[in-house]
Amino acid sequence: MKASITLLPGDGIGPEVIAVGRDMLDTVAKQFGHEFTFREALIGGGAIDQVQNSLPPETIQACEEADAVLLGAVGGPKWDNPTAVDRPERGLLALRAHFKLFANLRPVKVFPMLTAGSPLRAELLQGVDILFIRELTGGAYFGEKHEQGDGDSAWDTMIYSVPEVKRVLEVAINAARGRRQHVTSVDKANVLASSRLWRRTVDALKVEHADIQIEHALVDSFAMQMIRTPGRYDVVVTENMFGDILTDESAVLAGSLGMLPSASLGEGTFGVYEPIHGSAPDIAGHGVANPCGTILSAAMLLRHSLKLNAEALALENAVAEALRKGARTGDIAAPGETPIGTALFASMVKAALNDRVKSVDE
Ligand code: IPM
Ligand code: MN
Repeated sequence: MKASITLLPGDGIGPEVIAVGRDMLDTVAKQFGHEFTFREALIGGGAIDQVQNSLPPETIQACEEADAVLLGAVGGPKWDNPTAVDRPERGLLALRAHFKLFANLRPVKVFPMLTAGSPLRAELLQGVDILFIRELTGGAYFGEKHEQGDGDSAWDTMIYSVPEVKRVLEVAINAARGRRQHVTSVDKANVLASSRLWRRTVDALKVEHADIQIEHALVDSFAMQMIRTPGRYDVVVTENMFGDILTDESAVLAGSLGMLPSASLGEGTFGVYEPIHGSAPDIAGHGVANPCGTILSAAMLLRHSLKLNAEALALENAVAEALRKGARTGDIAAPGETPIGTALFASMVKAALNDRVKSVDE
């Protein structure tokens, strides 16, 4: 098949990991006989520096013309100016809003060969497979904001409507249907009105979806339970900010923030795919970033936007195979394991992809 993919490398380690992502997509395309065309565009801090706009109109257009977008990361200390009118993060939020990407899928799987490096006990991590679904275009991120430069108050409004809650819950319920038929909806209904509306909407939907087990959890207690008994969760659905916080926490289960991919989806097949790790300015330019989050995001792109399941699986298996052979970037190396850089790690994943083709040919 033919597909066009827009790359938004962004800031910090973004360009390093996106180069790997592109290389992997290219390799998969060659192996499976597809034709992917790539286009690059500006976003975030680099875009502010070059064209004074964290999401330039040319970038929106390049994304509109693409089947899918692979994004690196935005932000960094260089742009951390509290009085600046534009911020790198605004570019990312505006992109999500523009394409109405209300459902953010963040799968958390534990690779068994990485549990030795985890601060958690290996037996706790066995078989952990959680799909977080974070609402992405509502809540405090997009409610009314008031800031006064020299005033002494500021506020953000956490606001949700029933249709907004319903559509993301439907994504969660449908996902659970193809998994272990279990959904945990996380809120703070004992305090927040928006959470009580959320919970009411869940309860109303429950009736139509009796085949799926749906439970409620309060966010504070859930934050503890997901570390204590991570194996009991299947699909977890929650509002924007809770989802942001809980998915960073969930990285402890996977071994590192560097491991986790994400897909931001709306109504159609178009999506924006990005690792959840952020720009990591402290290691940017050193060639040591973990490319797994991006490679696994590229696999999600193949699966969700291009409907190429075998190709997605090949890429995921290649990551697992490289890890099995001992490939470890610094963030996932257990004591005694020698860390390798981004390029070597990527070449081991590529070798695993190529081995797969060889074994198919034989
Ligand atoms: C994420 C990031 C973003 C968010 C920032 C960069 C705006 O932390 O994708 O998790 O808060 O959504
Ligand atoms: Mn985040």
